[in-house]
Amino acid sequence: MEQLLIRGGIPLRGRVQVNGSKNACLPIIAATLLTNESTIVEGVPDLLDVRTMISVLKGLGASVDYQPERGLLRITPGDLPQTALPADLAGRMRASFLVLGPLLARKKEVQLPLPGGCAIGSRPVDLHLKGLAAMGACFNIAKGSVEGISGGLQGARIYLDFPSVGATENIIMAATLARGTTILENAATEPEIVDLANCLNSMGAQIVGAGTSRIRIEGVPQLGGTRHVVIPDRIEAGTLLLAGVITGGDVVVEHVLPDHLKSLLAKLTEAGAVVEEAGPSAVRAAAGDRITAVDLKTMPYPGFSTDLQPQFMALLALAEGTSMVIETVFENRFRHVEGLNSMGAQIKVEGRHAIVQGRPSLTGAPVAAPDLRGAAALLLAALAAEGETKLYGVHHLWRGHSRLEERLGSLGARIEFVSEEPEQALNIGSHSG
Ligand code: EPZ
Repeated sequence: MEQLLIRGGIPLRGRVQVNGSKNACLPIIAATLLTNESTIVEGVPDLLDVRTMISVLKGLGASVDYQPERGLLRITPGDLPQTALPADLAGRMRASFLVLGPLLARKKEVQLPLPGGCAIGSRPVDLHLKGLAAMGACFNIAKGSVEGISGGLQGARIYLDFPSVGATENIIMAATLARGTTILENAATEPEIVDLANCLNSMGAQIVGAGTSRIRIEGVPQLGGTRHVVIPDRIEAGTLLLAGVITGGDVVVEHVLPDHLKSLLAKLTEAGAVVEEAGPSAVRAAAGDRITAVDLKTMPYPGFSTDLQPQFMALLALAEGTSMVIETVFENRFRHVEGLNSMGAQIKVEGRHAIVQGRPSLTGAPVAAPDLRGAAALLLAALAAEGETKLYGVHHLWRGHSRLEERLGSLGARIEFVSEEPEQALNIGSHSG
């Protein structure tokens, strides 16, 4: 079992590069299936989730050339002989469900395992299926998998009950090859939706309004290949800025789009951190005199991102005063609280509310990462804690971050890999799922 050994208490200082966005490149990789021509995707981070998505595409018969050191992916789907994915392949990662729209649009049939619930909630796909059904697809759900067929998708007017990111992405992708016009209302407005739409439009799609809650897609007969550079990862940027603030340091993140960080930067400023743009694609954050408690409520973009809630909670654990954190997007995204409390935090969870009583310091301890962003939160807490922390379940971190420990090390962090037999890891509280 891979673990990280973190020696805390060192202020992080310096400049660090942010990688390409995981949540932009995963739908874009799925979108390449909409044509039989080759597409080159650049700025692809070397993540476990990216490698899983590549296996999914290869399982469908696409040829994929991946050069991780160059962040380069060349995908040639061809005729996609396979439209059914085995559970062991697609069940591993919810984002593999994003091949649903492209396969229905191009092949008029698809069989996928239903993405299981995961650590952060049940995460149904009803909004995906409802939107695609409005376009003429028919679904049969049995034995944990969904079979979809369509005699050719028709444009439709669709209103999403919730601005689901994945449902918005699946519907947009399917609509690019549907007959007629699709109007999608109450759509997700995340920057990753805009990046997907930009990539699709460069393939010949006709999408207007991505980034707003009303998106219009004119179907076209076919799409061609393209070359697309993925936007920077706003969640990784936020995580690195929080590493600077929580350790009492001063960090500049480079290769970012400051516009995508507004809600985080506003919240950091409210908590007393020093925040400023450090150039057209760089942002600086440093701890002010002290970090004071602030209330936090996660919301769909442009509200505060649920994917930064765990990491910001680690900072609040050390703030002066009591903070209220409300998680409105997922029903179970406080699994990092147990690890934070074992490091001396005082956090009480009531449903979707967490009350964080700030403490003057945290103490290193053996902790298990519950999921990707929980792992990041525990890593940040360990960087600020006194003494040594052993973080188990590091594979969760690798789903969304490539060599984060090396980049934190370049800022002065003391992090190293250790490996112990699994039974030794069982001596800690919750075991990573
Ligand atoms: C995307 O997940 C991101 N993943 C998530 O990031 C992110 O937290 C989430 O959007 C919200 O911003 C990727 O982009 C790969 P949703 P997604 O559909 O598309 C409910 C990370 O850490 N819902 O917007 O799965 C759902 O249960 C990950 O990088 C339905 O009820 O999120 C959840 O409560 C975690 N029915 C809420 O909507 C549906 O059909 C938001 O889900 C779909 C969703």
